[in-house]
Amino acid sequence: MADLIDLRSDTVTRPTAAMRQAMAGAEVGDDVYGEDRTVNALEAEVAAMFGHEAALFCPSGSMANQIALQLLVSPGAELLCDADAHVVTYEMGAAAAYGGVTSRTWPPVGAELDADVVAAMVRPDGYWAVPTRAIAVEQTHNRGGGGVIPLDTLRELRRIADAGQLALHCDGARIWHAHVADGVPLASYGALFDTLSVCLSKGLGAPVGSLVVGSADRIGRGRVIRKRMGGGMRQAGILAAAGRYALAHHIDRLADDHAKAARLAEAIAPFGVLATTVRTNIVPLDLTKAPLDAPTLAAAARAEGVLISVLGPRTARLVTHLDVTDTQIDQAATTLTHILRR
Ligand SMILES: Cc1ncc(COP(=O)(O)O)c(C=O)c1O
Repeated sequence: MADLIDLRSDTVTRPTAAMRQAMAGAEVGDDVYGEDRTVNALEAEVAAMFGHEAALFCPSGSMANQIALQLLVSPGAELLCDADAHVVTYEMGAAAAYGGVTSRTWPPVGAELDADVVAAMVRPDGYWAVPTRAIAVEQTHNRGGGGVIPLDTLRELRRIADAGQLALHCDGARIWHAHVADGVPLASYGALFDTLSVCLSKGLGAPVGSLVVGSADRIGRGRVIRKRMGGGMRQAGILAAAGRYALAHHIDRLADDHAKAARLAEAIAPFGVLATTVRTNIVPLDLTKAPLDAPTLAAAARAEGVLISVLGPRTARLVTHLDVTDTQIDQAATTLTHILRR
């Protein structure tokens, strides 16, 4: 796909030469024995960034989310989240399949979350109804077009969670983007959540890896769940080194990806297909009123060297990242506007 302009996802990035060097030189050990110093350093670093006691390195964001959900919601009890949340859309029913977790969702609103709607859904403990145990939000919201949930809304959710003795989880696969877009310190986000999952392999450009962040007690229990799920890795320091490199070098530069997404959005806006205001690195397209549907647009774009994601019959998505240059963004904008004009 090297000669194509790949805007399907920020997961398509490849490690840079400097990142590969960091990986090659990593000190490693057996992480199931707790002896990989690079993994241990990454876990300590990420925990500190979010002001929590501990963190756990996992092979994927899905595993990190699912470990957190199993820690927060007992089998048969309930999780509340957006109907479009990654945890209930793309994680293959894992909360139910592995954790026995029941999920109840609010209508998909992305980052435009109304805390009162969530508060009204909470079911108290009792023998007659499934008790709510946790609320999960996604920051930034992937299917919500990369929207950023405002800090005040998150504070409201924390109050609701405290009032109902519930836990609050953040799927923070792209929390770095929210931090850069809104200037909210990572520790301020961290202070609001019982657990967070954060990804190194999306916008940050590492090849593999996510972490669950939380209290030492929860992360200790999370380590057992990770092993049970087959996520105990051995000389994982090679991967953790890529993550440490990404944290040191690839957070501030996310502003470039946001600017690229804004440029694409500006070019496409006159065609009336932008689903929402672009805040971060995702440009969501709503083709309901367009003359062509999402698969047709994607096929036409692919024929001209631009890859985009089809999320539904009339929904598509472009994502900017480390591996697309400014010139390629301009080329993609020209290609897409030509197709939309036809
Ligand atoms: C918001 C969000 N959460 C979690 C994940 C899961 O990450 P992974 O693909 O590493 O399992 C993704 C993947 O794109 C995501 O967009």
